[in-house]
Formats: sequence, structure tokens, C-alpha cells
Amino acid sequence: MMLAVREKRADDAESLKALWTDHFGAPVVVVRARKHDPIKLPGFVAEGDGKLLGAVTFLREEDEIEIITLDSAVENRGVGTALLDAVAKLAKEQGVWRLCLVTTNDNIRAIRFYQKRGWNLCGFYRDAVTAARKIKAQIPLTGEDGIPIRHEIEFELRL
Ligand SMILES: CC(C)(COP(=O)(O)OP(=O)(O)OC[C@H]1O[C@@H](n2cnc3c(N)ncnc32)[C@H](O)[C@@H]1OP(=O)(O)O)[C@@H](O)C(=O)NCCC(=O)NCCS
Repeated sequence: MMLAVREKRADDAESLKALWTDHFGAPVVVVRARKHDPIKLPGFVAEGDGKLLGAVTFLREEDEIEIITLDSAVENRGVGTALLDAVAKLAKEQGVWRLCLVTTNDNIRAIRFYQKRGWNLCGFYRDAVTAARKIKAQIPLTGEDGIPIRHEIEFELRL
């Protein structure tokens, strides 16, 4: 499979909305009670054979970058890793010293994925997802393997 990563463009909107709706119910993300519209955020898109294979979006804060979404449409082919690498490369070029992101307690696959790539646990927000449901009703009650989704977990990568 040919895999190419490029900057996200305005004309990716339709395919990105479909990917995000499929992965998390609506093209909206709530992280620590803050609502984000990832369509408006900068990011990178992975493509292969003209098809969207995944995407990452992020927020640039002063001297750090927070990843808001990371989604792979074809798992276990290196898409997620290539997208993370693109953000880390950009961060280094821009003198950013820290990358961070929030995931949820049910997301065993993500918790495994980030730790194997050098990311470290750095925060725990008890019942943050319970609170986020008041802002985004589409968040399901249970996630992977039937695990109740309740808490947010923060990871960081120091560059
Ligand atoms: C977490 C997520 C982004 C990972 O994406 P992915 O595209 O599957 O990631 P990769 O393919 O780069 O890596 C996954 C595994 O596949 C393996 N892999 C990569 N390329 C491979 C290939 N060509 N052949 C076989 N295995 C391969 C990797 O080694 C990795 O295993 P490891 O962690 O034991 O090293 C993806 O599961 C996803 O979209 N999840 C749903 C959304 C989500 O939860 N996002 C995170 C929210 S914070």
C-alpha cells in the first residue's frame, strides 16, 4: 500500500467529516470540557491510491501542540504512526518542546499505541467524559470491549 502524508486542505472536509462521524459519532470533539471543530484546525492527511487513510488535527498553543484528533481508516498499516511522526517533525521545526493529547479510559488500543511510541501518561481527569456528554450527547456510554467510558487520560511527548 502506498502511503503519503500531506497537509490537510479545505477540500478534505467531506471525507474527514465522514471519517470522524464513523469514529466518534459527530465531527465534533470535546476535550476537558472544551468543544473543538476539527474541520477548522490544521492537520495532516494520510492517503493511499487516492483514498483517505487517516488524519490528525492539532491545536498550536504557545510552546506546545495538542493533538485533537488522530484517526486511521485502515489500522495496522502504519497510518497512525506516519501521522504522529508528521506532527512531531513539524513541532521540532517550530521549536515546540511538548506534544500532548487526551484519550479516554476505554481506549486500550490508543493507550497501548502511544506508550509504545514514547508518550507518557501525565494526567487523569476523573469523570471528564461524563461531563463532556452534557456538551456532546453522541458520546456512547461504553467503548471498546464494553468498557464504560468515564475518564479522560492525558499523554505527553517531550521533544
Ligand atoms: C490508535 C490508532 C490511531 C492507531 O492507528 P494505526 O493506523 O492502526 O497505527 P499503526 O498502523 O501505525 O500502528 C498500529 C500497529 O500496527 C503495526 N504495523 C504498522 N505497519 C504495519 C504493517 N505494514 N504491517 C503489519 N503491522 C503494521 C505497528 O507496528 C503497530 O503495532 P505496535 O503498536 O505493536 O508497534 C487507530 O487505532 C485509530 O484510529 N483508533 C480509533 C481512533 C482513536 O482512538 N484515536 C486515538 C484518539 S486519542
